[in-house]
Amino acid sequence: MMKKLFFFLMMCLSLSAWAAGSPKIDIGKGGQCVEDPQWMRKNHMHLLKHGRDDALRRGIRDEKHSLKNCIECHASTKDDSAIARADSFCVSCHSYEAVKIDCFECHSGTRKSAWLQQRNAK
Ligand code: HEC
Ligand code: HEC
Ligand code: HEC
Repeated sequence: MMKKLFFFLMMCLSLSAWAAGSPKIDIGKGGQCVEDPQWMRKNHMHLLKHGRDDALRRGIRDEKHSLKNCIECHASTKDDSAIARADSFCVSCHSYEAVKIDCFECHSGTRKSAWLQQRNAK
């Protein structure tokens, strides 16, 4: 009886912690972000947007800040995707903040090295 009650209380506690806290994020592979993570949290959208992007307008490719490069690191080590699950990197905060991005209709959300490996295995 006590055990059941304890379990129930723990569940309530963790649920409320989850609701009040920040979203759970699968950071991906790890390593060092291309910019300061604190800065990135606020400014990644400006780096990535079409139109504002000098790399796109002037035809200069900045590999370091390319979307492919972000996905290479931030795709999950579980499924090689940055968008497949609710806690996938590029989804987690956005659903929490109700931001909708349509980038992955055209761009791949899967780690390139992973699908290359799959393709070569065939
Ligand atoms: C070499 C691997 C790597 C690359 C490439 C990379 N990141 Fe990161 N990034 C990380 C790691 C690791 C963290 C977590 C650092 C920490 O929390 O201390 C991070 C943190 C972040 C954060 C903050 C997450 C949070 O919890 O607040 C954002 C946003 C972000 N990255 C976006 C991007 C974007 C957009 C790109 C592409 C332009 C990118 N990153 C490229 C490794 C990478
Ligand atoms: C209608 C299709 C389409 C959509 C939607 C789209 N893009 Fe793109 N994007 C392209 C094409 C085409 C290129 C140029 C070809 C290339 O670089 O692979 C490009 C290039 C880029 C580049 C520079 C190259 C690279 O790999 O980094 C970035 C960054 C980028 N897009 C980010 C985004 C982001 C962020 C979104 C969502 C807000 C988005 N795109 C939505 C088609 C699209
Ligand atoms: C740490 C949380 C967090 C992570 C992780 C994150 N984002 Fe965001 N992103 C945000 C927030 C918050 C906004 C909205 C900011 C605003 O409204 O000014 C946003 C906005 C954007 C926008 C602009 C959307 C628009 O219509 O204005 C793009 C594009 C974008 N994110 C791309 C990405 C991509 C690609 C990834 C994965 C590599 C990613 N984000 C990961 C928090 C995050």
